[in-house]
Amino acid sequence: MDMIAPAGHPHDLLAGLRERLGPQAVLIGDEVPARNCNDWSASLPQMPIAVVRPLDAAGVSEAIAVCRDARLPFVPQGGLTGLCRGAAPEAGWVAISLERMVGIEEIDPAAATMTVKAGTPLETIQKAADDAGFFFPLDLGSRGSCAIGGNLGTNAGGNRVIRYGMTRELVLGVEVVLPDGTVITGLNKLLKNNAGYDLKHLFIGSEGTLGIITRVVLRLFPKPRSTMAALCALKDYAAVVALLDAARSGLGPLLSAFEVMWSDYWDVITERAGVRPPVGAGHGLYVLVEAQGTEESIDAPRFESWLEGLMARGLLADAAIAQSLAQVKAFWAVRDICSEFAQVLGPHLSYDIGLAVAGMDEFVRRCKARLAADIAGCESVHYGHIGDGNLHLVAWVSGPPVERQPKAAMDAIVYGLVREMGGSVSAEHGIGTLKKQWLGHARSEAEIALMRTLKRALDPDHLLNPGKVI
Ligand code: FAD
Ligand code: LAC
Ligand code: ZN
Repeated sequence: MDMIAPAGHPHDLLAGLRERLGPQAVLIGDEVPARNCNDWSASLPQMPIAVVRPLDAAGVSEAIAVCRDARLPFVPQGGLTGLCRGAAPEAGWVAISLERMVGIEEIDPAAATMTVKAGTPLETIQKAADDAGFFFPLDLGSRGSCAIGGNLGTNAGGNRVIRYGMTRELVLGVEVVLPDGTVITGLNKLLKNNAGYDLKHLFIGSEGTLGIITRVVLRLFPKPRSTMAALCALKDYAAVVALLDAARSGLGPLLSAFEVMWSDYWDVITERAGVRPPVGAGHGLYVLVEAQGTEESIDAPRFESWLEGLMARGLLADAAIAQSLAQVKAFWAVRDICSEFAQVLGPHLSYDIGLAVAGMDEFVRRCKARLAADIAGCESVHYGHIGDGNLHLVAWVSGPPVERQPKAAMDAIVYGLVREMGGSVSAEHGIGTLKKQWLGHARSEAEIALMRTLKRALDPDHLLNPGKVI
């Protein structure tokens, strides 16, 4: 950062901003709500000097101008459900929250697009698409609280990546405010547009370090007319890989989710969270397979006979098929219950690992054994979007609060194995600050140097979310 003096006292500059944007738009000092002091990661909150809540890109630009004049670092905030401190302020920063920038601006049925303000909750977007006869496939356990701008910020994955891809694949255009306050309006609705660099991809997945996204053009998809789901119990991981292969070939483009839960996950949700799943305990692994199609009368019997064929082959130890949409939801509740792990397990650390599908179970066995052997009392559970090569691991030691969990020792074991097995330290949640020291386990020095070059080019004063990611 250069040494240019502030153009005024920060409080005076922020008070001036409040006069221009309105009293609801700028909360200073004691008015700062607790929720804006952290994201949902296991980490300690920090108090920003102010929270600015603009209504549009021009307001974001004005807020940035004030931050620049006051030489105050600023961080974009969406729904704050991020799990690696990407949206968390440091003490004395300004939080620029998109929480009042909410609403669907347009649905274009011919283009199959939706243009939304970046603070709009994901669930609102899903419902609006549904009401308009379309489907927006991005789906995460945090759907009620996360915002689409945050989903772009993290390039969120979630439950339907296997069919529709990550957030990046669902975005056609963005409006973004650069760290110098320039508004770039790139609300492209064309599916094909190779006119020069595709700039939106710079901002998607950059965790609020290169610009603040204020509006988004999303792709919409045909609404599924049939949803089939099965909860399968399997003996071992070889059977899971065989089931994935069978689902890809047997269900083809209908396959919409393939979520795997190891037996440690099953034990925790049944014994500690009181979940009553439709298949019993005592198996090696459990898989939630979902398929979505266009014609219930054809798709449902096909799904059933596909599953029966697998039973007959002896691939499945047990399986339950959902008989109604209510049962489909109940099956998903078995998977979504992990959003209550904070209450169920107490303080814990969560990991989000990318790995080759074939090596997943070897990782789980080695990692679990090392954690238990090297860290007294360390327990762990495993689950994830295994069809996408994405494993979630939750580890904890009973008793200590989050700041005294043995994070350094856990990280070293988990990320050491990730490096050894050629995986990624983040498949979908991002880096923030919590995984920053491990970025080099998943990206080369040259890649990280290029990331820094891009950061310097867009934010030479290092005021936008400094110290995050790189
Ligand atoms: P925030 O936490 O507010 O911000 C996330 C990052 O994006 C920060 O770096 C922030 O600075 C930046 N950012 C926010 N808004 C903007 C903007 N407008 N412009 C630029 N940058 C911005 N994640 C998955 O990928 N898949 C899952 O399946 C999944 N499941 C989850 C389940 C639960 C119960 C929880 C709590 C979290 C889960 N997450 C999952 C993590 C989290 O929900 C996602 O990362 C989500 O995309 C974050 O959105 P948010 O609006 O809460 O973003
Ligand atoms: C999930 C979150 C943790 O998939 O990404 O449940
Ligand atoms: Zn996930």
